[in-house]
Amino acid sequence: MRLDRFLGNLPRFNRKQVRLLLIERRIRVDGQVASDPLHEVREFSRVELDDEVLQMGRPPRYFMLHKPPGCVSATFDPQHPTVLDLLDEPDKHDLHLAGRLDFNTSGLMLITNDGQWSRRLTQPSTKLPKVYLVHTEQPIGADYASVFARGLYFAFEDLTTQPAQLDIIDSHSARLSIVEGRYHQVKRMFGHFQNKVVALHRERMGPLVLDPALAPGQYRALSGAEIALI
Ligand code: URA
Repeated sequence: MRLDRFLGNLPRFNRKQVRLLLIERRIRVDGQVASDPLHEVREFSRVELDDEVLQMGRPPRYFMLHKPPGCVSATFDPQHPTVLDLLDEPDKHDLHLAGRLDFNTSGLMLITNDGQWSRRLTQPSTKLPKVYLVHTEQPIGADYASVFARGLYFAFEDLTTQPAQLDIIDSHSARLSIVEGRYHQVKRMFGHFQNKVVALHRERMGPLVLDPALAPGQYRALSGAEIALI
């Protein structure tokens, strides 16, 4: 939110007072004087007027987790363990999942309280590739790659999937890179060939790769460099 709006939303200041506070350089955001009304204020920003704290700002948090099969990508489920149950962190209600995986899919999940960051990661327009290791029931045909590259029509959504890249590893396994995250997308793509996906594992989301040191169910905080990649 813009700084002038943030201040104007506080019941104690009218628009004229907000302008004055900024001109008089009495407002600080994250310790620096902020006089530009357009200065961006986020929920993570500390905002001060003279020596008074107007907003504490909460720390942004970012985690990568190795989701095991058999857990739900949700913050709450009445029946099954959820991804959030695997985190030993305070204020978990503040966190959300940046993209979901099916109950039996394993692999990289990103969890944060930073909505702008997770939107950049998941919105289709950014076209960040999500890379999956796929194991199938039937042999994978040589024709799959060109069909996936052209895109498949999904009647339910009335859309054609974005070009996807398939690299065949052996008769029953392949690596698939897709830039969207439609409902059950990978399973439906293989379903086009009546080929059932028997195991699915997400290795990567854009530049963020699942840390091989994380066993299923384990997680760690992202480094500053990893956060900055998105
Ligand atoms: N596509 C699927 O079908 N399932 C997932 O969990 C992720 C992508």
